Amino acid sequence: MKPAPARNKKGRGALCNLPLLLLIAAIQFLVIYSPTLDRYMVMITSGKPGFPSLLLDGRRGFKLVEDELVPEPRVRCDFGDPRSDVCEMEGSIRIRGSTSEVFVVTPSGGKGGNFTGLIKKSNNTTGIEEEGWVMQPYTRKGEARVMNGIRTVTVRVVPSDAAPACTVRHDVPAVVYSNGGYCGNYYHDFNDNIIPLFITSRHLGGEVQLLVAQKQAWWFHKYREIVDGLTNYHAVDLDADAAGEVRCFRRATVGLRSHKDLSIDPRRAPHNLSMVDFKRFLMWRYALPREHAIRTDEESEDAGAGAGSRRPRLLVITRRSRRRFVNLDEIVALAEEVGFEATASDVMSSSSSSSSKKNTNNGGAGGDGDGGQARMAEASALVNSFDAMLAVHGSGLTNLVFLPMNAVVIQVVPLGRMEELAMDEYGVPPRDMNMRYLQYNISAEESTLSEVYPRAHPVFLDPMPIHKQSWSLVKDIYLGKQDVRINVNRFRPVLQKAIRLLR
Ligand SMILES: *[C@@H]1O[C@H](CO)[C@@H](O)[C@H](O)[C@H]1NC(C)=O
Ligand SMILES: *[C@@H]1O[C@H](CO)[C@@H](O)[C@H](O)[C@H]1NC(C)=O
Ligand SMILES: *[C@@H]1O[C@H](CO)[C@@H](O)[C@H](O)[C@H]1NC(C)=O
Ligand SMILES: *[C@@H]1O[C@H](CO)[C@@H](O)[C@H](O)[C@H]1NC(C)=O
Ligand SMILES: *[C@@H]1O[C@H](CO)[C@@H](O)[C@H](O)[C@H]1NC(C)=O
Repeated sequence: MKPAPARNKKGRGALCNLPLLLLIAAIQFLVIYSPTLDRYMVMITSGKPGFPSLLLDGRRGFKLVEDELVPEPRVRCDFGDPRSDVCEMEGSIRIRGSTSEVFVVTPSGGKGGNFTGLIKKSNNTTGIEEEGWVMQPYTRKGEARVMNGIRTVTVRVVPSDAAPACTVRHDVPAVVYSNGGYCGNYYHDFNDNIIPLFITSRHLGGEVQLLVAQKQAWWFHKYREIVDGLTNYHAVDLDADAAGEVRCFRRATVGLRSHKDLSIDPRRAPHNLSMVDFKRFLMWRYALPREHAIRTDEESEDAGAGAGSRRPRLLVITRRSRRRFVNLDEIVALAEEVGFEATASDVMSSSSSSSSKKNTNNGGAGGDGDGGQARMAEASALVNSFDAMLAVHGSGLTNLVFLPMNAVVIQVVPLGRMEELAMDEYGVPPRDMNMRYLQYNISAEESTLSEVYPRAHPVFLDPMPIHKQSWSLVKDIYLGKQDVRINVNRFRPVLQKAIRLLR
């Protein structure tokens, strides 16, 4: 057996030191056993409440014990969630990356174990007690178009004599998920991977081993600050594991939890973690200085009515193509007129936030290694220096995660019956992060589509049939061909309200 290559960066030479081991174990015990996992303790405490028996029995930790004893597994799956399938497993869990298989080992002889939420499948042809199910560990369940490309993980419940032998043992829990799908698109990076990863693993305090299917190396460079904040261990590329490699765990989660678009439902998250916690986490990871946006009244009182008083800063996110602000200069001038100090920026020229753009070769974000990481640091610092943000739907709004709290997010929604979709995607998250949100639904006159189609065209009169016909048509017309020419008179009250909100 070889040592786990991707193991502890902190070094665990101290493992033979029993008092220290017990201390570490006790701390891990406190950190790791979330309320949702409490039930599992019944299995591993075996009569000594509050302390895992494997630590008491296992002179050198659980490794010895696991060789001798396969505990009855506990598996709890949630296949009812509309966003993702997730299984939590406890016992002897063996993961073979080369075949995308997860083995839940049952003690030989016995066929026990506690399985909840499962649809069990027996193999009738062989007669062998073999149970298992398949999962796709990505958070866009039900969206066939993207899920077709997601790696399938097969979970098998097998007796110990039928389970492959361990080649690597990990003493922290595993989280298995896919980095494929829409990853590579800035919005989806946060929505489909980063926030679900935060929900699923943050409460483990870094003591978690990520096992990543369809791992994209550049992605892990780009979001290195975030990933390193969630795990103390190098994320394993499951697909790159050698054919015979079998990684063994005592606990594993297959799939990531996801609650809602770009946000978290604290009632369903371990330790009630919220989007405010996520924002604080990002502030910590990117060393962002501003927790709160400006309070204009306080500032002007403190500074007196003159020199030192600072105006609230507005970031106008611009794009070079698709959903541009055609009259950017007018908008910036208007913002200055109502009292903002306005700056137009594309924040990160490389990252496209348009819906559903495929990964890998996405607009320079792919394959640029550490460049992406540096740009994330720059972008987060830039955005954090503002008090308000203005952007067209799907054009860099995801950057709002880096704004300070109390900041104001203004989303401009183009034509095409996208007001509610826009509200779901970007309207709720700011509020969940203690920020304020304003939405500006443009009128037909403010759309450059009015220069392309006659006003009596169905594109203006009734977008619904187009939605019904196909989403790609919606994308082509309303997201792909439309720029925005803001009517400054109609828009002025929105910016004035934003200023008032910052008092
Ligand atoms: C299995 O575990 C669930 C909780 O996960 C518990 O409610 C149930 O009673 C257990 N069933 C058995 C047979 O132990
Ligand atoms: C049953 O087991 C046989 C032999 O291992 C395998 O080829 C077959 O695919 C299994 N069937 C199902 C439904 O899992
Ligand atoms: C396997 O047997 C069960 C009954 O024992 C039956 O309900 C099920 O349909 C069978 N499955 C297959 C794939 O034959
Ligand atoms: C989470 O919040 C609920 C109320 O929404 C509360 O009952 C529960 O105790 C909280 N859990 C933790 C771990 O704080
Ligand atoms: C924009 O549309 C959304 C969704 O229909 C609606 O809730 C909101 O009030 C509209 N905003 C304005 C300013 O009319």
